[in-house]
This record gives sequence, structure tokens and C-alpha cells, in this order.
Amino acid sequence: MSSQWLDGARAALGAVALGPLAEQVGRVEEVGDGIARVSGLPNIRLDELVRFDKGQFGFVQMLERDGVGCVLLDDVNAIEAGDVVRGTGDVVRVPVGPGLLGRVVDPLGRPLDGKGAIPEDGRQPIERPAPAIIDRDLVTQPVQTGLVVIDTLFALGRGQRELIIGDRAIGKTTIAIDTIISQKASDIVCVYVAVGQKSSSVRRAIDAIQANGAPERCIIVVSGAASSPGLQWIAPFTGFTMAEYFRDRGRHALVVIDDLSKHAATHREIALLTRQSPGREAYPGDVFYVHARLLERAAKLSPEKGGGSLTALPIAETDAGNLSAYIPTNLISITDGQIVLDAKLFHEGLKPAVDVGTSVSRVGGKTQARALRDAAQTLRLDYAQFIELEMFTRFGGMPDTRVRNQLTRGARIRAILDQPQHAPLRLADEIALVLSVQSGLLDALPLPAVAAFRRGLRDAIDRGAPDAIRQIQETGTLDAAAKQVLRDTLQGYAKMITPP
Ligand SMILES: Nc1ncnc2c1ncn2[C@@H]1O[C@H](COP(=O)(O)OP(=O)(O)OP(=O)(O)O)[C@@H](O)[C@H]1O
Ligand SMILES: [Mg+2]
Repeated sequence: MSSQWLDGARAALGAVALGPLAEQVGRVEEVGDGIARVSGLPNIRLDELVRFDKGQFGFVQMLERDGVGCVLLDDVNAIEAGDVVRGTGDVVRVPVGPGLLGRVVDPLGRPLDGKGAIPEDGRQPIERPAPAIIDRDLVTQPVQTGLVVIDTLFALGRGQRELIIGDRAIGKTTIAIDTIISQKASDIVCVYVAVGQKSSSVRRAIDAIQANGAPERCIIVVSGAASSPGLQWIAPFTGFTMAEYFRDRGRHALVVIDDLSKHAATHREIALLTRQSPGREAYPGDVFYVHARLLERAAKLSPEKGGGSLTALPIAETDAGNLSAYIPTNLISITDGQIVLDAKLFHEGLKPAVDVGTSVSRVGGKTQARALRDAAQTLRLDYAQFIELEMFTRFGGMPDTRVRNQLTRGARIRAILDQPQHAPLRLADEIALVLSVQSGLLDALPLPAVAAFRRGLRDAIDRGAPDAIRQIQETGTLDAAAKQVLRDTLQGYAKMITPP
């Protein structure tokens, strides 16, 4: 038969290539705890997506001589020993695109909010390489968290990775959610990833964002405590992939991972079930690498790459304030700083309970608005000195006038750092507050009146010094004349609040 005839027949059949088709096929040997051990699949690769008989998916986590360990992604109970497994030749991918904004999805991008199908702009792998060094730029633009204590003392920049760390139930999630709510006034796209959280906590977070923030610019990725370990494991990676879509198009994104301690525990669970050798605290040796390669994807891109940014706020939980446990030390060394929350402060009533002594922001300081930096110059030092003095005088030291003044001032600084939840401030409000306390306007005010002072502050400065406010909001600076007007307004307002 001539080859011409063969070519003609091929053309008639269209693009379908005739010939043998190699397919990777295996069989489930045992299944349980979200893991399946599969025999066969001789040429399967690590991280490859596999499909089970009844349409479920999993990915390969462990290669052994006589089989592979697969982590199941969904519907764990429907899979049985003997089921056929096929390799797909692809890795796990999730939908990306603006269609996800305003939606609540699971870690595979499937809607959980009952609002119907999500229009997607393609699918991207959950594991993507971090931007190269030459594609990055310095962190120069601020992220306004709306929390006085963070914006004045530990300013964050776009592209930074800042860890929020503390014991359980002392306001870690609240700081992250308040930061998301504060983006109502900015152009930042927010992605909140819940890993292994209670459904009630997730519900509270979603409600807070919907009631106070800009939910139409948020994506919420939920893998609850009841999800399979596989889904919980991929959730942070999914969140980053969805946020990178915006970063790579010159826009700005913020990812909150709540929390990486639970993610590390899931990683450990999977590793132990797939019989990887345990290391310190029974975590496998690669847990540092997993979190490092995840967080490296946060970046500020160079102008040639569009100038977009991806800021990461991972959360971690400590036991009895122990920052030197394995996962906390890992995360502290990976990130560009940490906001440390203190259980004692929280129970004394200081909220957010930020420990000023151990918290730090290593790159964001340079992005702080000029006017705020000028106003808050000595705030941290004054506050630190106050905390020491307070401890000292608690033991019955007789303070002289200078020390008494320092104590008065310090107590007012603490009062302005105290802030109710879900009430982020504008940059101008923060500058006005810090100016008031640092110029001594609040010293004559009884402590309980400071809360009243901050409640009415916004109205007072909007009315008394509109030009100064506009200048701050537009340029982040304050010229001498405007500053004087603002000072006078604050003085008048403080006098009004002070009881006779
Ligand atoms: N600034 C604040 N003002 C008033 N209440 C607050 C503030 N911050 C946190 N809380 C309250 O403290 C409680 C614990 O907060 P949150 O859930 O944020 O803590 P968490 O550390 O994330 O807890 P978990 O360890 O359970 O995740 C919540 O009831 C919250 O409403
Ligand atoms: Mg929480």
C-alpha cells in the first residue's frame, strides 16, 4: 500500500492520530485517612494529578519501589481497594480570573456560595515558581492596615511577607480581617484562605468582610476542619495562584493564610501516612521548604513586569507564647517580620494585643507616609520606656514629676493603640491621633475619655482641617501651614472633650 494512500486516510480522519496510546493505569491497594496506596503507574511523576474510577482526583506525594502514595482531593469515602487509577500527565490546576472576585470557593476553585458557576480565565498550576530576582523591585508602596499600632510602629509595604503570630484566640484572625476591611479604601485585591478552621470562625470572617469591607474585591478560599487533608494541603497554594493572576497584570493583591500551623500539621499528617521519615517534632524534613517556596511567591514586581505586587500575611499559632517551637521559628526566619500577639496583654484588655517589644517589620518602614513617620518618630521609644517604668513603679517606687509625666503620656499612648475590631482608620485619622498624644493634648484627659476623643476625632478634623486631610490622603505629606491648622483643630477639639 502506498504511503500516499495512508496519508490520505489520515487526512480524512482529521487530526486524530492512529496508533497505540500509552496510558498510565494502576490499581488502588489500600485506602484510608485521605491517602490511597496504588500499585502500577510505572512512569508516574511526583505531584502528578491522578484520576480514580468514579471521577475523583488525587495527586502523587510519594514514590516507592512497589507503588505510589496518592493524596486524595475529594470524596474520600467513595474510593475502594481495587479501583482503577489513571495518570493524567498534568499537575493540580485551579481556575483563575476576575470571575472569582466576590466568591467563596473550595481549594479546587469550586463554588461554595451557591451563586452558580464561576467564569474562569484559564487554569493555572497551584505550584508556580516565585518571580526571579531581576523581575523584582524594592518594596516602596504602603499597605494601610487601618490599625494604629501596626501602621505607626510596624508599617507594612506592598510585596512584604509579615507573619501574625500568637496563642489561640487572642485576635490573630481579627488583625488579618481588619486589614482586609481596610482595603475597602484601596485598590488591593484580597484573598482570605482558611485552612482547617472551624466553620463558625470562617462564617464570622466572611460576615465581617461582607458587612464592613469590599467583598466584591475579595476571594475567600475555604477548606474547613472537616475537609480531606489533601484539600487542606493545597489551599494556601491555591490562594497564591489566584492572587498571582492580579499581581502579574500590574495590580496589587494581599493573601491571608489562616493559618500555617494547621497547614504544617496537615503536611505532617500526610507525611506520616505516606511513611516519610519524621524529623523534629515529627514534622518531615521538607516542611521548611514547603512554606519557604510558598511565601517566596509574594513579591513586588519591577516596572518592566507591570509593577504589580503580592503581599502575604501568614498566620501562625503558638503554644503558651513559645516562639522558639519548630514551625514558629521557621516562619519567622522566612518572613520579613512578625506581629507578635501576647495573651497577657489581650486578657488585660489591650486589643489588638500586639507585643511591641518582639514585633518587627523589616521592610515596610520605608513605605510609611512621611507625615505619619514624622509624627510617630519617638512613639515606639516613649512607649517602650513607659512599659519599663510602669513595671518598676508597680513595686512601690516613688516617682518624681518627670517619671509621673512619662507615665501619664505612656498610658495615653497605650490608649490610642487600643482599637475596637472592624473599625479601621484612615491615614489622616492615625496621624491626628499620634499628633494629639505626642503634643501632650491628651495628657489632661482622663483615660476613659480617650476612647470618646477617638470616636469623634474623624468628624472634628474633617470639619476643622479639610485641606490638611485632603493633603494627607492624596500625598501622604503635610506642609507646615496645614500642620498648624490641624494642630489648632485638635487643640480645640481636645478642649471640648476635656471635662471641666
Ligand atoms: N480589637 C478587638 N476588639 C474587640 N474584640 C476583639 C478584638 N480583637 C479580637 N477580638 C475578639 O477576640 C476573640 C478572638 O479573636 P480571633 O478569633 O481573631 O482570635 P484568633 O487568635 O484568630 O483565634 P483562633 O486561635 O481561634 O484562630 C474574638 O471573639 C474577637 O471578637
Ligand atoms: Mg483565628
